[in-house]
Amino acid sequence: MSFVEAVAAKRDGKALDRHQIAQFVRGATDSSLPREQLAAMLMAICCRGMTADETRQLTDEMLRSGESWDLAADRPDVVDKHSTGGVGDTVSLILAPLMSAVGVPVAMMAGRGLGHSQGTLDKLDAIPGWDSNRNRNQTLEILDECGAAIIAQTDDVAPADRTLYALRDVTATVPSLPLIVASIMSKKLALGVGTLILDVKWGSGAFRKTIGDARELAASLRRVAVDSGVRCEALITDMNQPLGPALGTACEVREAVAVLEGGGDRLLREATIGLSREAMTLRGWDGARAEAALETALADGAALDAWRRMVVAHGGDPDLGRLAQPVASIEVAADADGFIASCDGEALGRVAATVGAGRRTVEEKLAHGAGVVVNARIGDRVRKGQVLATLLVGTREIDRETMTSRIRGAFHIGPDAVEPPKLILGTVDGV
Ligand code: URA
Ligand code: CA
Repeated sequence: MSFVEAVAAKRDGKALDRHQIAQFVRGATDSSLPREQLAAMLMAICCRGMTADETRQLTDEMLRSGESWDLAADRPDVVDKHSTGGVGDTVSLILAPLMSAVGVPVAMMAGRGLGHSQGTLDKLDAIPGWDSNRNRNQTLEILDECGAAIIAQTDDVAPADRTLYALRDVTATVPSLPLIVASIMSKKLALGVGTLILDVKWGSGAFRKTIGDARELAASLRRVAVDSGVRCEALITDMNQPLGPALGTACEVREAVAVLEGGGDRLLREATIGLSREAMTLRGWDGARAEAALETALADGAALDAWRRMVVAHGGDPDLGRLAQPVASIEVAADADGFIASCDGEALGRVAATVGAGRRTVEEKLAHGAGVVVNARIGDRVRKGQVLATLLVGTREIDRETMTSRIRGAFHIGPDAVEPPKLILGTVDGV
């Protein structure tokens, strides 16, 4: 049967069969289908949606388009964590060593920055010597050495996703739920970890702007994971403002270490403990006992030791004194008295990316000393002249005035008291 018939079927709202889905994914992987047919199918899926079965089959075919590791076969205890992306989300850097410190090993395949959000791999690259490019055996060695591996996705993982993602980007089909789910889960399942905790963000700085949309995404991701034999839970968390105050690379490493030392930012700590606790519950821990163990590891230095071991196992130098420093810091002050009514995380994330924490071209080098540190959160009372945020200037040439005015514009100060958003809304129940 020609692929045009499959496109017509989806256009008319019918479900695709396994063979049609396989043909679509193969066509994206080996270029056996022309791009116009792939693009037409993407638009048909975007407009008509997919059933749970179709979404699972699409994920499965995309997963099988490339390499997969099946880490659970060798290390059944290992946990993976994935966030749907946000700003100031430093959780992965803290969660991996923290959980390993309480005896729960963690492996994550992480990504680079995309758009306004900074990538975990870019943050870790700020550490001199750190190398995320590891094959399966090297990853197992790191896990045995320190119980926490954060590695780069190889080019051989889900190659169909690379083609389809690039096409989605230029055909206005990125927001489709089944396409997002298959894209994320094909890459997650490639690592083959047996337990997965998902952090699904909602809000202005997230990719799903409402709680309802985030819940829908969380339920769908979780369903695909569970149907593939993975123990999985999802937490819906707030991304209406940056999670941790530091947005950048080296500054986020420092912020992660501050939490691992037992202090650090309150919300970042709360998010990390909440996600770790949920993951440990999936591994059979009692929730309260898990939380107590995590708090103890942060307080008694075990988490910090685990961080140092993790950095060394990846070839890095844990001496924070060797991290890049900003060449200048510029404080951005409030221009009125009042309460912080909103804080545009996406705008702040874009500033951080522009000054050095992101790339305008694939080859562009990051300026690791650069970033933004946010000092005010939704609901805070501020006075005119009080510092809202600090711009960390790195080695990249930037227009300082434009950057500081964008930072100031990201905060809306109103006359009325505002309730701060709830950080962790809860889990998605029943799939
Ligand atoms: N992240 C992905 O990897 N794919 C998507 O489609 C969305 C977010
Ligand atoms: Ca942060």
